[in-house]
Amino acid sequence: MRLRIVTHVEHPELRGKLPDLWPEFMHHDEVVSSFWPQLYEVYPDFQLWVLDGRRLVGYACTLPVVWDGVPQPNGVDWAVTEGPGGMPTTLCAIVAGLVPQYRGHGISAVVLGRMTKLAAAHGLDSMIAPVRPLWKERYPLTPIERYVDWRREDELLYDPWLRTHERLGAELLAAAPSSMTVTGTREQWEEWTSLQFPEDGEYVVPGALAPVRFEGGTGTYVEPNVWMRHPIEEPQPF
Ligand SMILES: CC(C)(COP(=O)(O)OP(=O)(O)OC[C@H]1O[C@@H](n2cnc3c(N)ncnc32)[C@H](O)[C@@H]1OP(=O)(O)O)[C@@H](O)C(=O)NCCC(=O)NCCS
Repeated sequence: MRLRIVTHVEHPELRGKLPDLWPEFMHHDEVVSSFWPQLYEVYPDFQLWVLDGRRLVGYACTLPVVWDGVPQPNGVDWAVTEGPGGMPTTLCAIVAGLVPQYRGHGISAVVLGRMTKLAAAHGLDSMIAPVRPLWKERYPLTPIERYVDWRREDELLYDPWLRTHERLGAELLAAAPSSMTVTGTREQWEEWTSLQFPEDGEYVVPGALAPVRFEGGTGTYVEPNVWMRHPIEEPQPF
């Protein structure tokens, strides 16, 4: 494996070349979707592409934000609405993803390391992340506030993605119970999920970390994430 991490400034032609890594409904948080192009247009040096040789295998997005030290419940939505503007203090990791064949090899630790270097290079004080816990999908009925406390016998966090962050020295700050919100009509949800939602009520949907609730024919999904904070190493003097 010849792993390289480059910025969007260096390789803008890579945008749009990765296969979709997400369940379709995840693309329909309106707050996030309307901000997304700005990540690449306004903050291109904060967006990363992961390559194995010349093969594109993953990506990561970060955003410099003004943060007062309070982890907001609406994690990702907060980051893209209230985060930008003013003199940034902190780097906020928005997302990281690898194509399936490249998962489980520790590559994400390298990507997170590169993100914290990015923060240091821009003089930011720490890196925060509304982390999407990988295995919460298996426990959609468990409140996120309970799930974040789950640990294995070796005391490490139960969730593998939260665990990776913790191993790198990140501190678990708080749950972000309403990190993203996706709302759609019954027809839209049926198209996004290939399921049927014949009546109002709560449904467990593959890929969703909490149930989708239908009321009056409108389905709402509120995605829970977990705020974590990575320390930043001071840049080495020349
Ligand atoms: C989340 C993600 C970036 C993690 O990257 P990664 O390089 O696979 O992470 P790691 O190799 O450090 O694995 C982390 C842990 O998950 C486990 N794991 C991850 N992917 C796995 C897989 N496909 N099969 C088995 N275990 C896996 C690893 O064993 C490890 O656990 P450990 O503490 O027991 O070693 C990657 O799984 C991914 O792209 N997932 C889909 C997108 C996503 O959910 N992103 C996160 C939200 S922003």
